[in-house]
Amino acid sequence: MKWGIIDRYAKSLIKEAGHKTRVSFFNQIDIDTKSSANDLVTNIDKEIEQFFISRIKRDFPDHKILGEEGFGDVVQTLDGVVWMLDPIDGTMNFIHQKRNFAISLGIYAEGVGMLGYIYDVMRDDFYHAAKDEGAYFNDERLPQLEITPLEEAVIGINASWVAPNHFVDNEKIIELIRTCRGTRSYGSAALELAYVSSGRLDAYMSMRLSPWDVAGGIVIAQEVGAVATNMKGDFPHLLGQDTFIVARPGLHQDIVTNYIDLKQ
Ligand code: IPD
Ligand code: CA
Ligand code: CA
Ligand code: CA
Repeated sequence: MKWGIIDRYAKSLIKEAGHKTRVSFFNQIDIDTKSSANDLVTNIDKEIEQFFISRIKRDFPDHKILGEEGFGDVVQTLDGVVWMLDPIDGTMNFIHQKRNFAISLGIYAEGVGMLGYIYDVMRDDFYHAAKDEGAYFNDERLPQLEITPLEEAVIGINASWVAPNHFVDNEKIIELIRTCRGTRSYGSAALELAYVSSGRLDAYMSMRLSPWDVAGGIVIAQEVGAVATNMKGDFPHLLGQDTFIVARPGLHQDIVTNYIDLKQ
């Protein structure tokens, strides 16, 4: 496989999609709901996904595409080359803030992450990595992450962790929040993964994410030595939803071992 060619192709496709997304703000955006009143989707999420799919199908007809809005393939195995795409990660931010959302793309071969991209569309910030070739923030190579103790860590975590939930023991999470230096919640899993990879956050965790939320970010995170797993410490399930945590080495183990008490 010629990964260099695919890498250049994917980058230019993402930049073109980013341009289309920025231009979309000049027209009226149609907002719809999916599984619940807060699960939002717009015509732009759909149009951008369709744009990617038409190009990839034309130029790489034997590759499969798993996209959030369902215009891609029904992907039941990770055999071959699979593109995992979230056309807009952070749709709520896209609608309410017109910023703080990203295009997220991971390209996997036989289940191994080869290329990863997160594009912060409004800031024109591009995070990308190729397996074993390092990760980049725009044209700057990202350094390997160093160990940070929990007491000095800023953690990406949202308020649902402290509300009653089916996943974890709240008491432990409250202890985690009290022990770390601070918490942040940005509303885009992909951007939070990019922030951990570039050292702006020390950890990010979520109770439920889908493959397209994390596929690109995992490739980038691994290239800087971050550890990305589900809450049981296993590699995240890339054919369905899973819990998720990415963090600096050491910190990852501390959080999973001492602060996550799964109810199921
Ligand atoms: C969502 C965002 C959000 C996360 C949700 C995701 P979407 O993706 O990443 O930060 O908390 O779980 O579904 O729907 O905006 O692409
Ligand atoms: Ca969505
Ligand atoms: Ca998403
Ligand atoms: Ca999305």
